[in-house]
Amino acid sequence: MNFEDTTKLIRKRKTTYAYDFLDKKISKKTIENIVSNALWAPTHMHTQPWRFIVLEGKHQEELGEFMANYYRKIYNEKQFSNKRYEETKTYSKNATLIALIFQPNKKAKLPEWEEIAAISCGVQNMWLSCTSLNIGSYWDTSIATIAYGKKIKLAENEQFLGIFFMGYPKKNIKENSRKRKSLSQKLSWLKN
Ligand SMILES: Cc1cc2nc3c(=O)[nH]c(=O)nc-3n(C[C@H](O)[C@H](O)[C@H](O)COP(=O)(O)O)c2cc1C
Repeated sequence: MNFEDTTKLIRKRKTTYAYDFLDKKISKKTIENIVSNALWAPTHMHTQPWRFIVLEGKHQEELGEFMANYYRKIYNEKQFSNKRYEETKTYSKNATLIALIFQPNKKAKLPEWEEIAAISCGVQNMWLSCTSLNIGSYWDTSIATIAYGKKIKLAENEQFLGIFFMGYPKKNIKENSRKRKSLSQKLSWLKN
């Protein structure tokens, strides 16, 4: 392992939407390997405030339909596109869906943001793992997805933080613009 390879992996990671996933299953072993890497994320006081649920079977059909109907309900005529609606109906059918569940640790009494920051580190581990396996992925926290999360039975103190989508990407998919602001805008040195 060296810095160059790490930098390459970090910069190769990107958001790949489920429209661009092939009809090709990710094996159980691979899913387990990816989620295992999430478990190796750092957590303050070692709280590990998370669990993950693979949403299979009917969920893969249902989620896309739910999203499409959700947007039809909330979008006005100007925003609504029938083409997009039809495409969204089958949006999740090729995706492996990992529900991200936040389990706050009562004893540790940490600020919530620290626990959610820790989960985000776990998600980044999954995202980078997918990149190294040539699996497309992204974290979906859209209002439709968060609303879909109400279907999942959780313990009272748990919270649904969206879905991590994964799938093998089609060839030659259209790249999103992947610009970043410059280092000089984001890094400063406080000397005194
Ligand atoms: C916490 C979090 C939530 C996100 N939720 C969404 C989402 O709901 N819908 C979406 O299209 N992208 C979502 N994304 C992906 C971002 O849009 C994406 O990371 C950003 O545009 C930069 O692109 P890149 O991942 O290709 O570098 C989310 C990313 C993060 C970190």
